Amino acid sequence: MEVILAEHAGFCFGVQRAVDTVYEQIGNREKEGRPIYTFGPIIHNEEVVDDLEKRGVRVLDSLADACAVPEGERGTVIIRSHGVEKSVCESLKELGFDVVDATCPFVKRIHNIVEKESLVGKSIVIVGNAGHPEVEGIKGWSAAATYIVESVEEAKNLVLRPEEELCIVSQTTFNYKKFQDVVEIFGERGYNGSVVNTVCNATEVRQAEARELAARVDVMIVIGGTHSSNTKKLYEICRQECEMTYYIQTLDDLHLRLPESVRLVGITAGASTPNNIIEEVQNYVRINF
Ligand code: F3S
Repeated sequence: MEVILAEHAGFCFGVQRAVDTVYEQIGNREKEGRPIYTFGPIIHNEEVVDDLEKRGVRVLDSLADACAVPEGERGTVIIRSHGVEKSVCESLKELGFDVVDATCPFVKRIHNIVEKESLVGKSIVIVGNAGHPEVEGIKGWSAAATYIVESVEEAKNLVLRPEEELCIVSQTTFNYKKFQDVVEIFGERGYNGSVVNTVCNATEVRQAEARELAARVDVMIVIGGTHSSNTKKLYEICRQECEMTYYIQTLDDLHLRLPESVRLVGITAGASTPNNIIEEVQNYVRINF
């Protein structure tokens, strides 16, 4: 029996980079002995966060948490892939922390665009979900008026001055089609300015690959947390293509009894599933079937 692992299973590039940065800093601390913090959990995966906690990495949920750290314990703070407001970076430095920026380069690119365009006087429109940490972070790099628009309706109702020049960007995980629809409204309303497509296609690529793999295999295994909406989505996509699709969190949930006719097994995983879990499942299926 053959096992095929989807190339884009699990962490996207930006999350992998942020998690690797934390483990690198743990290695450095062994030399330097300074405490390590992450600003917010580095990833929404309990196993990873627990493992880091065991290694002495603490989570700061806010600037207030950072202020509460005694001065002698203000070591390194790692900024996660979503990024943060410029003022947060500055405040952390002022408090005496070493800031290690693991903001995903695709998000950092948006910060740079927003800062540059707002400094030449353009108003910023972020197409995304208000309240999402990435969107709040992006907003915090703007030096001009900034609007967050989530839907076509909101774009239609946004009150703007007629002479306002816009720079429109999007949250990286926003749906590209919805972004285009919103942009179209600003065009229809006659606003000038620039539009930068900053949607990241990591999610789409993972889903397209899962669909294609599920259509080829006899059995499909989808690994991810039960609360992970992107894993649920992956499961639904795979289930449409392959009737024998299983949704598991870890190897412990896998109780497979496969018919003899099964020749090909496909494996994919949600965006917050660590590599070691994916590998365990893959090795188990390879060895046991
Ligand atoms: Fe991931 Fe960076 Fe895209 S964090 S989803 S690769 S913007």
